[in-house]
Amino acid sequence: GAAELGPYRHYMQKEIFEQPRAISDTLEGVEGIVPELFDGADGTAAWRVFKEIDSVLILACGTSYYSGCAAKYWLEEIAGIPTQVEVASEYRYRTSVPNPRSLVVTITQSGETADTLAALRHAQSLGMQHTLTICNVATSAMVRECKLAYITRAGVEIGVASTKAFTTQLAGLFLLTLALAQSKGRLTPEQEAAHLKAMRHLPVALQAVLALEPQVISWAEDFARMENALFLGRGLHYPIALEGALKLKEISYIHAEAYPAGELKHGPLALVTSAMPVVTVAPNDALLEKLKSNMQEVRARAGVLYVLADADTRIESSEGIHVIRMPEHYGPLSPLLHVVPLQLLAYHTACARGTDVDKPRNLAKSVTVE
Ligand code: G6P
Repeated sequence: GAAELGPYRHYMQKEIFEQPRAISDTLEGVEGIVPELFDGADGTAAWRVFKEIDSVLILACGTSYYSGCAAKYWLEEIAGIPTQVEVASEYRYRTSVPNPRSLVVTITQSGETADTLAALRHAQSLGMQHTLTICNVATSAMVRECKLAYITRAGVEIGVASTKAFTTQLAGLFLLTLALAQSKGRLTPEQEAAHLKAMRHLPVALQAVLALEPQVISWAEDFARMENALFLGRGLHYPIALEGALKLKEISYIHAEAYPAGELKHGPLALVTSAMPVVTVAPNDALLEKLKSNMQEVRARAGVLYVLADADTRIESSEGIHVIRMPEHYGPLSPLLHVVPLQLLAYHTACARGTDVDKPRNLAKSVTVE
């Protein structure tokens, strides 16, 4: 009811603003990178499993699938572990090549999504017994059925469009990456300390990003008049572009698509006009220069750019280019910060269009039947 909402208009907005707290709760008690963080409730030891595995297979649906897509970049780059990410409803029905030494990781807010549970059982039936879940509900079927678990502490999520569950999943997946890196001898004590320090700073960093809300509201006024939008990202931020597009279509009913920026000229550029705003997630990483040339391609076709620029990129607002600058540069954890303005953009666009933000048409919070 209204009392629980406090100063917020909707649960989704409240949940977006709860993210600093959700992340600090999720990381509470994490003093160091130890496999014990992932031990199963029945006492299954994560370190034994981590020593045994040679690859990771991530299975999930919806927003949880996108957090898995981001984790793939971390797992391959930081832990050096070959990683596959698959939509649960696809994996469960196709013929695949099982690897008994793979760690099967399910990601699920509810722990009850029918396709994700079925995909887990399918993997088990193929002889894959090393299973781990990143889940927000400790009492769920998924936690019962996986050997290992990391319980995120987002708290109850009511808005159908997932927000705080996503960022806490990313925090859990980053910890998993570090724990696997360590068990493969790929994490020095100095690196461990630096990563932990960055993680502990996340709540403060998130608070600073939330303070960008007024700037995002002015973008949302433009988006509310559009029927299409394109989201571009590269590398680790491509899954964030996907998640930004999903949020927008779920609650504002604007058709939104995300592309890895390098694919622009292989199709979506044909659609770019002044009626097709292009959101660009532009972190200050190795691919920035390439992203800048993608942005020029959009401008050359009168496309209007909305750029989430990293703190130390020198991208400035100009004719047809709207820039929101992120407060600080965040290295590998930057997806957790860049997604927040995209959540706010979807939220405020939906509010401006007057849709039912917390209960979008045709969608359910938890899809427990196929
Ligand atoms: C539904 C929800 C999404 C969620 C997806 C997966 O589609 O509307 O917000 O991402 O299910 O749910 P899960 O509980 O498995 O993360």
